[in-house]
Amino acid sequence: MKRIKIVDLLKKPAGDLLGTTITVKGWVRTRRDSKNVVFIAVNDGTIIHSIQVVADTTKFDEALLKDITTGCSVRVDGKLVESPAQGQPVEIHAEEIEIYGKCPSDSYPLQKKGHTLEFLREIAHLRPRTNTFGAVLRIRHAMAFAIHKYFNDRGFNYLHTPIITGSDAEGAGAMFRVSTLDAENPPRTPEGKIDYTQDFFGKETNLTVSGQLEGELGALALGEIYTFGPTFRAENSNTPRHLAEFWMIEPEMAFYDITDNMDLAEDFLKSLVSYALEHCFDDLEFLQKMYDKELIARLKGVVEMPFKRLAYTEAVDILMKSGQKFEFPVSWGTDLQAEHERYLVEQHFNCPVILTDYPAEIKAFYMKQNDDGKTVRAMDVLFPRIGEIIGGSQREEDFEKLMNRIHELHIPEKDVWWYLETRKFGSVPHSGFGLGFERLILFVSGMANIRDVIPFPRTPKNAEF
Ligand code: 4AD
Ligand code: MG
Repeated sequence: MKRIKIVDLLKKPAGDLLGTTITVKGWVRTRRDSKNVVFIAVNDGTIIHSIQVVADTTKFDEALLKDITTGCSVRVDGKLVESPAQGQPVEIHAEEIEIYGKCPSDSYPLQKKGHTLEFLREIAHLRPRTNTFGAVLRIRHAMAFAIHKYFNDRGFNYLHTPIITGSDAEGAGAMFRVSTLDAENPPRTPEGKIDYTQDFFGKETNLTVSGQLEGELGALALGEIYTFGPTFRAENSNTPRHLAEFWMIEPEMAFYDITDNMDLAEDFLKSLVSYALEHCFDDLEFLQKMYDKELIARLKGVVEMPFKRLAYTEAVDILMKSGQKFEFPVSWGTDLQAEHERYLVEQHFNCPVILTDYPAEIKAFYMKQNDDGKTVRAMDVLFPRIGEIIGGSQREEDFEKLMNRIHELHIPEKDVWWYLETRKFGSVPHSGFGLGFERLILFVSGMANIRDVIPFPRTPKNAEF
C-alpha cells in the first residue's frame, strides 16, 4: 500500500479516505496505554503534529506491542476515522503494524521530553527528531525556497560564486586556509616561508568570507544577480549570533543607488517574513508556545511597519544622549555593537532600523565614498532581538577613488586587479547587500541561539557532527 504523508492527512479534508485503509510510516513520539488499547503518536517529519494510532491490544502480538516505544520506526496500516479526541481531525485504527527499527528506551537519549537546547546540541545527530528542530528545519527550508522564489520572480540570476578563493579582499575577518601541502613538513622558500607556489592552486587559497566581489562581476554583466552559499569566518566569536560557517544571500544590482538598495532590502525581508507567516504557521505557533510568546506579533510587526532610516551620525547622537549604560561606550567613529543596535531598534524606535553613511574607517574598501571625505554609502539593517541582519552598500564605481582607497589600506593590487578592471571597462553605479541566512532564521523562528537554527553548527572548538 502506498504511504500517505501525515501532513496530507492532517492538513487536507480527509474526504474519500475516511473509512478506507491507509498506510503511514514514521517514528513513534509517545505511547500511552489504557484499558485494551494503546495510543501511539506517530510523526513522519512532514508536519509538527503527530497522528494518533489506536491499537486494540487483543488484535496484536504482545511482543510486538512491547517494542513500540518512543523513537522506534514503524509502518502502520489501518482505517482512517474521524477522531473523537480534541485537536485532531482524524486518527488511525491500526490493522497491521510493522516495526522497522526498535529504539531501546534505556539508552535512547530522546526518551523523555523537555531536554535543554544545550543538551540537544550535544546530540546534533538526533535532535532533528524533536518537535523543536523539526519546526526550525522546516522553516529553514521554506525560507531558502522563498529566497529563490523572491529573486526569480524579479528576474535576478542565481550566480554561483567560488567557495575557494585566492583573495581576502573583503577584509571581513580571519580566513580558513585551503591547502594540500604536507602540514607537518611544508615546502619552504629560501627565506624560510611556506612555498605556496607548490600548493594545489600554485598560490595561497582560503575559504570565502563573502561572494560579493565575484557577485559584482556578475551584476556588471547580467544586471541583477544574487548568490546564496556558505561563507566561512575564522573569528573566535563565541556569541549567540556568530557561526564560523554560515550561509549568506548576496544580491548585487547594476544601476541601483543606496536608496534602491534599501528599498530592495526592506521589501525582501518583509516578503520573507510574510512567506513564513503564510506557509509555516503551525511551526511558528509551536515555537511561540514553547519559546517566545511574542513571536507571531513580532513577525507581523516587521511586515507592517516601515523601517526607520537614519544616518550613523544621528544614531550615535541618540546613543550618546540615551543615558544608557552600555558595556562598550559609543562615540563617533566606533563600530556599533549588538547592544547599541538593539537599543535603537527595541527601545528608541521600536521598529527595524536602517543605518546609513558609516565612517569609512570601520567599513570595507569597496563602499562608495561620500563627498564629506569621512563617510561611505553603507547600509546596515538592524532587527529586533538580532541587531545587524543585513550589511550592504552602494559600491565605489570610480576607478581613481577605488585605487586611492586600496592604496590607503595597503591592499595588494595583485589580489584585486580583476575587480579593479570592472571600474575601467564600462563601470556603472551599483549596489548590493548580504543577508545572514541564520540570522534570518533566528528572527523568524524566535530561537535565541544561532547554533539552534543550522543543522550542524560550526563554532570555535566544535565540528563533531
Ligand atoms: O556585514 P557582512 O560582513 O557583509 C558582507 O560580507 C558583504 N560582503 C555583504 C554584501 O554587501 N554583499 O555580512 C553580511 C551579513 C551580516 O549582516 C550578518 O547577518 C551575517 O552576514 N553574518 C554572520 N552570520 C553568522 N555568523 C557570522 N559570523 C556572521 N558574520 C556576518
Ligand atoms: Mg556587517
